[in-house]
Amino acid sequence: MARPWIEFLYAQQLPWTEGLYGGARDDVQSKTLSIDDSAGDSSVLIKYPAGWQRADAEALTAEEEFYILDGDLEINGQTYTRDCYGCFPAGYMRNQARSKTGCVALTFFDSEPNVSDDLSNTFEEQDLVPFINTLNMKWDASTADPSLEWMGNRRKVLKWDHEYDQKGTFLFATSPHIYPENWACPTLTHPCVEESFILAGELTGPFGKMEKGAYFWRPEEKPHGPFGTREGGFALIRFKYGKHINVWGDKDVPYSFDFPYKPELPPALSAYGDAPYEGTELF
Ligand SMILES: [Fe+2]
Repeated sequence: MARPWIEFLYAQQLPWTEGLYGGARDDVQSKTLSIDDSAGDSSVLIKYPAGWQRADAEALTAEEEFYILDGDLEINGQTYTRDCYGCFPAGYMRNQARSKTGCVALTFFDSEPNVSDDLSNTFEEQDLVPFINTLNMKWDASTADPSLEWMGNRRKVLKWDHEYDQKGTFLFATSPHIYPENWACPTLTHPCVEESFILAGELTGPFGKMEKGAYFWRPEEKPHGPFGTREGGFALIRFKYGKHINVWGDKDVPYSFDFPYKPELPPALSAYGDAPYEGTELF
């Protein structure tokens, strides 16, 4: 089993549920954006209530990546606020954790997060990213694929994928007024999963206009695009489970800023695909 194709849903449409699957944090609320029911890896929003704390040392059986959307989270004396990022490998010890004002964190687990019995603080050093305040990073505007130069993409790499030797988790930004030349270009396909959460602005493609809170999980080998944006877009993206190679389609596909919302969703989520989210609250 792998995660189903979700492209795309609005996180705002999903209800908060009590606790977190796996049972490691029964005192938070969570929204599952996508999950592999058999392997246990997932992408979730976690809401920590104001005053939340974990006074005892704790390690998880899963790797936990997190990007703060709102509020504060203090772990091992380091305070993470909006736009801060960390990645703790399985086995990494949290000696203490708390949130003063509450927190919403976009969180990724590489397997079901359970409390570990092993408190020896043994973990894969190369996968540890203790703390990044992404506001302090400079955008990388170099062109990875000349065929995508028209998008003017910029990125901030947060985590390197050592298995596939490529950027694994990164922030992505595109200026306003981006569309393919002559309003058409071929689709792209990769032999890896591509996942994205829109943080601000919008990105528009054949499934509609993705605005703040829009989320997709696109499995390997799914042709996609063209994409563009009238307003400019800012997203967190991950490449997973394969090499990120651009394979271009062989014919031009027309592009429009006006593609209607027409998502690809698994049956369990189809109720969330009737209409885009039109409110203003993310949490
Ligand atoms: Fe892609």
